[in-house]
Amino acid sequence: MQYGFGKLILFGEHFVVYGLPGIASSIDLFTRCRLYPNEKGITVNDRLTNKHILVGKGNGDILEQTMQIILKETKLEKKNFRLEIDGNIPIFGGLGSSAALIVSIARELNREFLLNLSDEKINEIAFAAEHVFHASPSGIDNTVSTFGGLVWFEKNLQGGKNKMEHLKMKKPLLVVIGNTKIIHDTAEAVKFVCEQKEKQPKKFEQIFGQAKDLVHEAKKELLAGNEKKVGELLNKNQGLLKQIGVSSTELELLCETALGAGALGAKLTGAGMGGCMFALAKNARQQKKIARELEKEGFESYITKVGV
Ligand code: PMV
Repeated sequence: MQYGFGKLILFGEHFVVYGLPGIASSIDLFTRCRLYPNEKGITVNDRLTNKHILVGKGNGDILEQTMQIILKETKLEKKNFRLEIDGNIPIFGGLGSSAALIVSIARELNREFLLNLSDEKINEIAFAAEHVFHASPSGIDNTVSTFGGLVWFEKNLQGGKNKMEHLKMKKPLLVVIGNTKIIHDTAEAVKFVCEQKEKQPKKFEQIFGQAKDLVHEAKKELLAGNEKKVGELLNKNQGLLKQIGVSSTELELLCETALGAGALGAKLTGAGMGGCMFALAKNARQQKKIARELEKEGFESYITKVGV
């Protein structure tokens, strides 16, 4: 059995698609995949989405397309096996469920068939298959899911290797994830931002400038362990995401509720327009309080750490 971990984008989602830096961390929510023998063909049972497919006989749905890419990359099209997939990442919620799915499958095939794939190759496969879900992914989700930890990421717009640097923090950040439970479509959200950017180039140029400076400042404050400042920057980042139109009433309510419960900062994470947000807590007691307040508003919450 092999795992793929979810992620939280701390700073820079959407802007990373255009080559600006982003900071993201793996989290302890996961997708896992186990391979069993199969008499004939390749079947996949994905309990997270409740999809069961016989590869090659699918109707072109995203799981089928994902498998086709992974099998082509690993040259395992002719094998017979069954994959059982489950996990605890909310799907299509901004926590990197698609990247975690692909990474868990690629790692399980690597283990079973002794493919000796490097992490770089797993990441390459995950990036290729992410196109099924995202149309034009920046690569941040698959990078974090493959390599783990807290990561500084910059997409190479020329198509070469993306920039990835592990950031080491003195102590992890205590966060609470809030889930609107509104499933979002990353490709739609990315397309929406692109259209708005074309319509209002001046406004977006200014916002993009602020986003770039903000992520550089965030890196400095994260490494210095200045949580109060990190919280302020999360709020600023949320303001920019609201300006580009990817926040929502529910996400705003979750952020306000978390801040009302004393959070140092709060913002949406991932593509927005639904999905999840997270808040930074001062300590474990406050973490629980924030989680309680989010649940009182009728949302799901999850307590975790980032930067470990
Ligand atoms: O698919 P999500 O919700 O994890 O969001 C991915 C982050 C974006 O910046 C919106 C898209 C991308 O490919 O980086």
